[in-house]
Amino acid sequence: MSIVAIATQGAELQHPSLLATSTSGTIPDAFSGISNDIKQAGYGFAAGARMAEAMRGLGSMAERERFVSSWDDLGLDRFMADGGRYRRRRFAAFEMSANTVARKPHQPHYQSRDYNPLNGDIERWFEPVLDENADHPFLRTVFNVCRWAFTSAAPVADAGWPWHAEMHQFRIEAMTEVVGHPTPEGMHRDGVDWVCVMLIKRENVQSGTTEIFDDSSESVNRFTLTEPLDTVFLNDTRVRHGVTPISRLAPEREGYRDVLVLTFRRNDE
Ligand SMILES: [Fe+2]
Repeated sequence: MSIVAIATQGAELQHPSLLATSTSGTIPDAFSGISNDIKQAGYGFAAGARMAEAMRGLGSMAERERFVSSWDDLGLDRFMADGGRYRRRRFAAFEMSANTVARKPHQPHYQSRDYNPLNGDIERWFEPVLDENADHPFLRTVFNVCRWAFTSAAPVADAGWPWHAEMHQFRIEAMTEVVGHPTPEGMHRDGVDWVCVMLIKRENVQSGTTEIFDDSSESVNRFTLTEPLDTVFLNDTRVRHGVTPISRLAPEREGYRDVLVLTFRRNDE
C-alpha cells in the first residue's frame, strides 16, 4: 500500500497528565483526500475501513473493545429542555497542542443559545469521562487523526496552538414508543472550529441519517453512519449539521446509537 509520510514532530511524554500524541506516522493514500474534502466542501466522510487504516498509521487501536464497552456506562443527560430521557453521555475537556493532549479539570459544557436554542446559555454539568477512557490509546489515536485532518485542511500557521478540545460520549436510545433524537436542537452548528463525529456502535435502530447544510441552510448531502468507525469531519464555521431521529428495528429489543464526538476550538476565540 502506498502511503503519504507526515512530518515527524517527536512526541514525548512530558507529564503524567499528558497523553503522548504525535503527528508522526503515515497516512494511507486512501485517507489523505479527506483533508481536501474538508478544505473544499467544509466536511469530509471517512468510511470505517479507511478510518481504521488512518488510525493504524497514526497510532494504536489497542483495547478497542474496552473503549467501546464504556458506552454501556453513561449517565442520563438531565438537561434536556424538551424533557427527553433518551440521551446518555459523559464529557471531558482537553488542551491539544502540536504534540500533546492534556486533560483539563472537569468543567461544565457550555453552548450559547445562538448555537443551541434548545439547551444553550446554561452551564451543563455531565458525568466525567472515566480516566481510563480519557487516557485510552484508542482515543489518543483519534486525536492524532483529527489533528492531522484539521491542520491539513487549513494552513498550519493558523493552527494557533493550543486548541480547546471537548470529548462527548453519547448514547441515544430509541424507546418502545419514543424515537431518539441524536440532535434534538435540529440543524445546528456546535459553535467551535472543527468537529469529528465517529460512530461507535448502532444496535437495532433505523434512520439516524446525518445531513450537512451550507451557510444558507440548504441541504448539501445526506449519509448514514452505519459501520463502526464511520466518521464525519466538519468545519463548523462553514457547514451546519443535523441527524434524523432513530427508532427501533425490532420493537421488542433495545435500540441505541453510540457516537464519539470531539470538538476543537482555538483558544483565542
Ligand atoms: Fe453537533
